[in-house]
Amino acid sequence: MQNTNQKIIMGIETSCDDTAVSIISSNKEILSNVIINQNSDLAKYGGVVPEVAARAHLAHIENAVKESLKISQLKINNMDIIAATGGPGLIGGVIVGTVFGKSLAMSLNVPYVAVNHLEGHALTARLTNNIKYPYLLLLVSGGHTQIIAVLKYGKYIRLSTTLDDAAGETFDKAAKILGIGFPGGPQIEKTALNGDPNSFKLPKPMYKSKNPNFSFSGLKTAFSQTVSKNKLTETSIQNLSASIQKTISECLVDRTRISLKSFKEIIGPDLQTQLVVAGGVASNTFIRQALEKLAIENDAVFIAPPINLCTDNGAMIAWAGYEKYNFEGETDLNFKPRPRWPLDPDAHISNPIIKNVGKKGVKA
Ligand code: KG4
Ligand code: ZN
Repeated sequence: MQNTNQKIIMGIETSCDDTAVSIISSNKEILSNVIINQNSDLAKYGGVVPEVAARAHLAHIENAVKESLKISQLKINNMDIIAATGGPGLIGGVIVGTVFGKSLAMSLNVPYVAVNHLEGHALTARLTNNIKYPYLLLLVSGGHTQIIAVLKYGKYIRLSTTLDDAAGETFDKAAKILGIGFPGGPQIEKTALNGDPNSFKLPKPMYKSKNPNFSFSGLKTAFSQTVSKNKLTETSIQNLSASIQKTISECLVDRTRISLKSFKEIIGPDLQTQLVVAGGVASNTFIRQALEKLAIENDAVFIAPPINLCTDNGAMIAWAGYEKYNFEGETDLNFKPRPRWPLDPDAHISNPIIKNVGKKGVKA
């Protein structure tokens, strides 16, 4: 390596249904990015089955590491930091990644860093688009739909979250109802290409509400009822896909518009507003274009990571692990996997969506 301060980081991601291992350098080169997905195992169930997913991680993780090393043309001894997702997510998978990451770091005698999966998504644009803090983040994935003011490493203010379901979950459910496969988002996007987005009028929960949060459960129910009242043909499936994609997109844009105003108040008038989108749903081109338009209307710069790094991957975990290591050093090997791990632990105080938060605080 030319730069002796440069670090090589391995990132391991196992929090949902993808077993992902990536090797990056601290100067933001992605040397390998291996993703073994379980879609074919899970398609027959129409969704993620935690126990099936955990066993698959166990079966795939060693191969994912070997493949990642092979592609990067590095040896395991070249790794300077091992970062692994420590939560939030499906606990079986998180345990597999955490135990594997700790053991690898211990055997190599290098630092282990437990990474918050949401922080991985939140910081991806710093790896791929080299952006500076602060920025407003719309985090849209299968499990989360949140808007976060990312002020600096470790300083996150959650401005909005979903009251019920996530946007990705809504895509997945819609695809399941239409019988077009799993994961739903990419299938809906593909099918929608030939559909008319104005053919079915669907409700937009929270649309124009002063309350900054999202809601999708009413849309899911309404979609299911609309489908049951219509004959499913190739054309109606295309039209229904286009209509739900447009509806979800309009909800995301509307809520982001409110948070852009709050964000401006937080950062003050002198800084340029940057709007970043991340998470699996951020790979949707229709939604990216709608957000870009919103950013232009609000005098903001729009940044979306490359499509293949929006869905779960190891590179985002490696990068977040590197930033975390620089900020607070290595993680204790006693770290316990965290099924709940909010980015903003005080979110329930500043934006309470439910009164009874429980002893362990907000979920994520
Ligand atoms: O970030 P991610 O890979 O995993 C979680 O952390 O949840 O996000 C997966 C979610 C799924 O719900 C999937 O349907 C959705 O992202 N998704 C999409 C697209 N690609 C993935 N949704 C809409 N359009 C897409 N192209
Ligand atoms: Zn994710």
